[in-house]
Amino acid sequence: MPIVKADRLTDIATQLLVVSGASKAEAACVAKGCVLANLTGHDSHGVIAIPTYIDRVHKGHIVPGAPFTVVQETATTTVVDGNWGFGFAVAERAMKLTIEKANKSNVAATTILRQSHVGRVGAYPIMAAKEGMIAIMTADSGRSPKAVAPFGGAEARVGTNPLAIAIPSNLAGAFCLDMATSSVAAGKINLAIAKGIKIPTGWIVDKNGNPTTDPNDFKNGGVLLPLGGDEGHKGYGLSAMIEILSAILPGLGFGVDPTGRHNDGCFVACFKVEAFRPLETFKKEVTEFAHYLKATKPQKGVKEVLYPGEVEWMKEQDRSKNGIEVDEKTWKQFHDIAKKHGIEDKIKV
Ligand SMILES: NC(=O)c1ccc[n+]([C@@H]2O[C@H](COP(=O)([O-])OP(=O)(O)OC[C@H]3O[C@@H](n4cnc5c(N)ncnc54)[C@H](O)[C@@H]3O)[C@@H](O)[C@H]2O)c1
Repeated sequence: MPIVKADRLTDIATQLLVVSGASKAEAACVAKGCVLANLTGHDSHGVIAIPTYIDRVHKGHIVPGAPFTVVQETATTTVVDGNWGFGFAVAERAMKLTIEKANKSNVAATTILRQSHVGRVGAYPIMAAKEGMIAIMTADSGRSPKAVAPFGGAEARVGTNPLAIAIPSNLAGAFCLDMATSSVAAGKINLAIAKGIKIPTGWIVDKNGNPTTDPNDFKNGGVLLPLGGDEGHKGYGLSAMIEILSAILPGLGFGVDPTGRHNDGCFVACFKVEAFRPLETFKKEVTEFAHYLKATKPQKGVKEVLYPGEVEWMKEQDRSKNGIEVDEKTWKQFHDIAKKHGIEDKIKV
């Protein structure tokens, strides 16, 4: 598998998106977001998704150059319509707007509708944490195809419905919880298919409701289970709430649109720490709290206790230095796209 440095991979992904119709700014934003997902260890949301995004552009499901429309707003609230633009570009701009409003008014919340996939959700609240804010972001799949069964159900009715919360601190990595409310993110199944490896039991059931370790069973009518295994009612409950915040509140509705158009409805909320406590005191205490957690005696077989977000930070250190492994299937797709547009020489590593 090719191992590529982050800068070069960003450049390659940007070029592929530009020749496929994205503007330079959109392409750079999507490529940066995907490569950051790879850097932080979330290959399922990394450059593996670029061919899918390009395919969606060709299908008209993603609209390059789509306007960013504020449908409704107050000093503290905004409803954004992305008009089917690239989710990375729409969500980044919406998060910047929310940060601006929270900077002035201490709290701000935004809903986003009609945009494509936003990738690794944690990336957006981390932007606000860097500005001294606690930020929450949820995403659902709007009325696009569902992948997760409600607790006790044998059919998909909800998305993987991720939740991310980021907190300012003085830690080297971001103190950030960023998680799907399904057993795993659907992208991890696709990654297992791309790598030709088995998945653990408990991630999915096949089309007949039987446990399976074959990731291909997911594509063949299988379904993801909610987070929590036997206690999956809690993951399911979280998922249902996220669906309401990210789909019903923005006005996307629920259920599945027959066109199969992918949509990430989002809810974003930012809280300026200074409105509650002095920022530096808060950051110091969060940092001390993380060290307190990390000082816990580990269980047998566990190397160390980590704070939320630390795994991603450790991966980022490693991959920034040593490069990102791109799976063969994705690399071949890159070559096919480059060949189609006569730019093979531009994606050499
Ligand atoms: N855009 C979308 O539609 C969408 C949908 C689903 C998921 N996603 C993204 O997929 C990515 C993967 O989600 P996931 O649920 O598989 O994440 P995950 O299970 O890898 O990690 C979830 C959380 O647990 C923390 N964590 C992991 N190992 C830990 C440990 N040993 N100790 C302490 N904390 C630990 C991580 O820092 C993270 O905050 C996320 O970035 C998510 O935003 C996106």
